[in-house]
Amino acid sequence: MNILFVTSEMAPYAKTGGLGDVTGALPRYLRSLGHDVRVFLPLYDRLDRPVARLDTYKAPFQVRLGVHTYEVALRVSDAAPGIYFVDCPALYHRGRIYTQDHDEHRRFLALTWAALMGAQLQGFAPDVIHCHDWQAALLPLTLKAAFGWDRLFARTRTLLTIHNLGYQGSFGAHTLDDTNLRPSAHLFHQDLLHRPGGGRINYLLHGLLYADGVTTVSPNYAREIQTPAHGVGLDGILRARQSTVMGVLNGIDPEEWSPDRDPHLPHPYSAQSLDGKAQNRRALLQRMGLPAVAGVPLLGVVSRLVYQKGLDLLCDVAPEMLARGQIQLVVLGSGEGNLEGRFAELQHRFPKQVSFHRGFSNPLAHLIEAGADVFVMPSRYEPCGLNQMYSLRYGTVPVVHRTGGLADTVAPYDPRNDSGTGFLFEHHDAAGLRWALHAAVSTWHQPAAWRRLMLRGMAQDFSWDRSAAIYSAIYERLARA
Ligand code: ADP
Ligand code: GLC
Repeated sequence: MNILFVTSEMAPYAKTGGLGDVTGALPRYLRSLGHDVRVFLPLYDRLDRPVARLDTYKAPFQVRLGVHTYEVALRVSDAAPGIYFVDCPALYHRGRIYTQDHDEHRRFLALTWAALMGAQLQGFAPDVIHCHDWQAALLPLTLKAAFGWDRLFARTRTLLTIHNLGYQGSFGAHTLDDTNLRPSAHLFHQDLLHRPGGGRINYLLHGLLYADGVTTVSPNYAREIQTPAHGVGLDGILRARQSTVMGVLNGIDPEEWSPDRDPHLPHPYSAQSLDGKAQNRRALLQRMGLPAVAGVPLLGVVSRLVYQKGLDLLCDVAPEMLARGQIQLVVLGSGEGNLEGRFAELQHRFPKQVSFHRGFSNPLAHLIEAGADVFVMPSRYEPCGLNQMYSLRYGTVPVVHRTGGLADTVAPYDPRNDSGTGFLFEHHDAAGLRWALHAAVSTWHQPAAWRRLMLRGMAQDFSWDRSAAIYSAIYERLARA
């Protein structure tokens, strides 16, 4: 089948979180199933990995959004087969992937238009356009309302994958002209568009209304978002489309995340020979400037520091455990100022036990996954979560809130029949996390039980093969419908 991916992130080029990991891996697995997958991604000024020899695909063209006109070129490279980098410096040279700029809505509308116009330029008739998150969520409506005349798209179906319902792309109704869809204004959600006191256009909402299929990234999150507690205002629409909403668990990419051949680790290791893990632990402590404290487990965090991730609970609970000398803690992340401040303060108070690295570093993320004993992920909600899966694979036992994909991927440790892969707490409060951390620490003090726990985690299979086959089946079903 012909599949077109439209996404704002793709590893290894542009990534702020798990979306980049997913779009970086899934197309490769779909191609190995025989699909022709073409990915449209903005060409940001700062790519995590530069692309060699970018050539211009055919002639540059103009994308008009309301009264705004942008010069756009598609760039391709033999080093990045199947990827069409949408080059438009006026929109994508901002020093970062996402902004708060006044034209943020246009930055990703342009991606949508460039993808559809790019398909026309290539004469590529997609069987399915797979849209990711709010940034691509206005595509299904745009296709219907502005490209419906083109026979190229006569059989095209659309699939929207929600990676995070917390980000919806909601803009003022004055942006309607920029969508070029004013003649089809009646197709927008009317109550919202004409809401007294200020109409809005919510991109994700229109994706839910107009995509032929909707998926999210774990079965449990697919259920949760249909409830008011997790629906972020869209649960009613999700319930109305219940029969099309499916949860497909993300996989992990063994090319990137395998402890036995991870180029970021000084000491590769595997379930058969765990010695390297202890050496990575020493390397990690050294890298983070912490002394090795005997008899104390090392906790690790790698995260965007945002409310979703619930790390304020860790800041509440850690001081008492640190004061009693029960743990060491390494944290890698950046984000909201107050969370950054709280981790900086912990480091200041407990300089021999806590090290906080503020920033984004893929090599350090790998070293933490490998070198820590316990990985902490107390997310308030978590559509899938990849870090807990990386942790399991690296023999680093996860402590997680029982929510979303965390509940689907981590099985509770049960000492009575020696089963499970990690520690889950039910209620998102300090007492919940405290309980789980204490359970983890006391189990860590039983080396034989801990080792079995690690090995069970390392034996889990989260391969993309399974998930890619499910997406492939979804595409086929959509194309037949
Ligand atoms: P989310 O997408 O919500 O941030 P996930 O667990 O799905 O959560 O994916 C996060 C991804 O981003 C993982 O690959 C993780 O290693 C990476 N990551 C997050 N923060 C950092 C950071 N500060 N440095 C390096 N990698 C990070
Ligand atoms: C989002 C979610 C995360 C998920 C990732 C990839 O960023 O927050 O849980 O793993 O997308 O689907």
